[in-house]
Amino acid sequence: MSEASGGGRSNAFDRVLPLLDRPPAEPDVAHGYLDLLGEEDRPHDTIAQRLMRSGFLPKIYEDLWRPVLFGMFKGPLGPDIEEEYALARDWLDLAAIPDGTVLDVACGPGNVTRALAAGMTGHGLVVGVDASSTMLDRAVTDTVRPSPRGANGAAEVAYVRGDAADLPFGDEVFDAVCCFGGLYLFDDPWAAVDGVTRVLKPGGRAAFLTTRKPELPVIGTGSSVLGRLTGIRMFGADDLCNALRGRGFTALRQRTYGLMQFVGATRG
Ligand SMILES: C[S@@+](CC[C@H](N)C(=O)[O-])C[C@H]1O[C@@H](n2cnc3c(N)ncnc32)[C@H](O)[C@@H]1O
Repeated sequence: MSEASGGGRSNAFDRVLPLLDRPPAEPDVAHGYLDLLGEEDRPHDTIAQRLMRSGFLPKIYEDLWRPVLFGMFKGPLGPDIEEEYALARDWLDLAAIPDGTVLDVACGPGNVTRALAAGMTGHGLVVGVDASSTMLDRAVTDTVRPSPRGANGAAEVAYVRGDAADLPFGDEVFDAVCCFGGLYLFDDPWAAVDGVTRVLKPGGRAAFLTTRKPELPVIGTGSSVLGRLTGIRMFGADDLCNALRGRGFTALRQRTYGLMQFVGATRG
């Protein structure tokens, strides 16, 4: 197995392999992330998914795309990006798991992954999983780069190319799971929530950032049409909380800003 998991001191992939449900006999880490998908044929991708897999979006995602689009969706009262990251670290209670193992689902270019790693004080491990090879290329580049974008906490970071709807990890292996900006893109978000539940240890925390359907019915209908065209699903204000409750999560918390919602919960 080669280097370049972005972590540094040891090879973080060696810590990832035991977390997988079916570790490959010959792990492909040629691109700096562990590739569990290989060549993929996705003829029915939505516009949003195609963008995520393009070579262009990862280049502007963190500096332009995310601040502008998420800013519009969150509205003027929403938290800025640093406040979002602080919320994730707080809701996942990273301070209580300094050597813990954390999963970042739909990690994109690794922006949240690195923010989580920076919040860990011990020799933890943060694993970012995403389906897009172009996003992961960027994540690897930005993570090995020195600050401001490199991981500057004590935790190691590793990236895995895998499907969020079929998380490639074993049962109850993560102390915390984050999924910001992903659920609304997935073909089957509830399969992803099932997966998050499965891979979390009992008592482990999960945090999500996703869309929220406007309450006005006319706008709500418009957002559904737009959703079908673009591939961005709008969730009802209670959908995710109910789904988590139904899967045995407790200590639910939710903050809504404009067309977005943050939801946190503890696995029972
Ligand atoms: C908007 S980015 C989110 C990046 C980061 N988490 C954030 O909050 O800024 C969404 C990511 O979801 C990934 N994605 C979409 N569908 C996926 C799937 N089925 N499995 C894994 N990743 C997926 C895309 O490739 C993209 O990188």
